[in-house]
Amino acid sequence: MIRDEAKLRAHYADPPEGICLEDIDLDRMPRHVSFIMDGNGRWAQARGLPRSRGHAAGVNSLREVVTTSVRLGIDVLSAYAFSTENWRRSQEEVELLMHLFATTLVNELPLFHQENVRLRFLGDISQLPQKTREVFEQGLSETEDHDGMTFALAVNYGSRAELVRAARLLANDVAAGKLDAEQIDEDLFADRLYTCGLPDPELLVRTSGELRLSNYLLWQLAYTEIFVTDVLWPDFTKWDYLRAIRAYQGRDRRFGGVNTA
Ligand code: IPE
Ligand code: IPE
Ligand code: MG
Repeated sequence: MIRDEAKLRAHYADPPEGICLEDIDLDRMPRHVSFIMDGNGRWAQARGLPRSRGHAAGVNSLREVVTTSVRLGIDVLSAYAFSTENWRRSQEEVELLMHLFATTLVNELPLFHQENVRLRFLGDISQLPQKTREVFEQGLSETEDHDGMTFALAVNYGSRAELVRAARLLANDVAAGKLDAEQIDEDLFADRLYTCGLPDPELLVRTSGELRLSNYLLWQLAYTEIFVTDVLWPDFTKWDYLRAIRAYQGRDRRFGGVNTA
């Protein structure tokens, strides 16, 4: 993607100790960076605040990550906002999150227009409360002509559900005679995932220190580099983003082969 170097330098002016823009190689950037945004509840708890305040603070981190991704010239940004398992939380927290998703999207649409960001959702958004669904659908249609960065937000997303859905879609095509079972390969399978058409993430960032995937992009993360930071999501900044990219660029990606260099 085209990157505005002047804007990028301005975005990263005034570096703190230990990290600066020069620490990363702009010619070796990941195309797709994905985030598991975790730790909102603990952030609030540490301050004696209700969990809702942590989620509200997390919105600011996500906005910074969206803007930073555009500045860095990332093609695809994805982020895990609500899992199929998160329905197990209290009704109060679920309702609050659904409301927060809707209001945030309305508030951030101008940013998506300004930065030419195209919105996508990963997951079954048909099962969301009506208001949230309507706002999401409006966000999709209002940004569908944008050809800058793609921002894919995972809401009511579960990787196992996504894989089962892909199998069902393929089975339907076979049953309808549109497809021969022998033709099914990795590409046809990937075409039935919510991430259809997107490259796999090169880098996954998980905040708040948990060393697990929590049912996120199990297929797509097959060879992704994973960066886990103890920083809680509401505290995550553009500098932490640089640290993640610096770590990624220091990795030796072998894809099962042997590095002869
Ligand atoms: C991530 O923060 C946000 C969502 C899963 C919606 P959490 O709410 O999981 O925060 P912790 O893990 O309880 O700190
Ligand atoms: C993963 O976080 C889901 C999202 C960030 C949306 P969770 O907080 O739900 O994951 P677990 O329960 O710690 O595995
Ligand atoms: Mg959590």
